[in-house]
Amino acid sequence: MAAGVQPEAVRVIWPVAARRGTYYRLPNSPAALHAMASCLTGSDRQAARRHRHPERRRAFLIASALLRFALSEVLGRPPGRIGLERRPRRRPRVLSPRWTGGVALSVAHTERWILVGVLPGRLRLGLDLEQAGRQPTANLAQRLPWPDTDKTALLLQRWTLVEAALKAHGLGLTGLRALQLRGSGHQGWRFLSEDWPIRSAALTGLPGYPGVVGAVAVAEVMP
Ligand SMILES: CC(C)(COP(=O)(O)OP(=O)(O)OC[C@H]1O[C@@H](n2cnc3c(N)ncnc32)[C@H](O)[C@@H]1OP(=O)(O)O)[C@@H](O)C(=O)NCCC(=O)NCCS
Repeated sequence: MAAGVQPEAVRVIWPVAARRGTYYRLPNSPAALHAMASCLTGSDRQAARRHRHPERRRAFLIASALLRFALSEVLGRPPGRIGLERRPRRRPRVLSPRWTGGVALSVAHTERWILVGVLPGRLRLGLDLEQAGRQPTANLAQRLPWPDTDKTALLLQRWTLVEAALKAHGLGLTGLRALQLRGSGHQGWRFLSEDWPIRSAALTGLPGYPGVVGAVAVAEVMP
């Protein structure tokens, strides 16, 4: 890795099942891409071409490099030797699951930040990050599975809790209809989607300007 910007480890405390994961953040900047370029492979660069917008392409590349960096730490393999699959509108996936023993990946970006997570085991992981001050559209806000009387989380925080849960489930936005809120506690919120229990919690303690609101979710995959 070139000198300069370095991946910043992010500590996740809730949900408890997410603690075993490895999480890193980087600025979404040309300097970060330059610093991480040695982690990228030809297939990452090829996959990035599907994004026409240069900033989106850069975010994709930084996320790929950061996933490889985190996976290398978790799996003890060189970043470029890990089979990483990046499919449109799907979660990233590690190929060759036999030797990994199962590992879940997730990516979130804002205009300014990239966040990735690697969670070993059979659970599924979802991360979401939004620039503080953004708001979901009125239509999306209305569809969030929260009773009107429940004001325990601000709208943008609710949105990230839901997005992280949807990413953990793997359906993305199309899964919103099936997502039910089942309860909350000091460790976060419990959701259910098509019989899958999902726990989602606010990601706190992420310093930096501009500020972000984020969430981490873990889904138990039903056999
Ligand atoms: C695509 C979606 C999963 C997230 O979109 P998003 O919030 O714009 O983007 P994020 O940066 O948080 O996440 C994008 C990453 O999610 C991952 N992802 C995409 N589809 C996924 C799915 N079905 N399941 C799990 N992860 C998925 C990918 O890794 C993607 O990054 P990549 O394309 O570089 O690989 C989907 O839920 C969506 O379209 N959401 C609407 C976004 C919106 O309206 N936001 C308003 C916020 S105020």
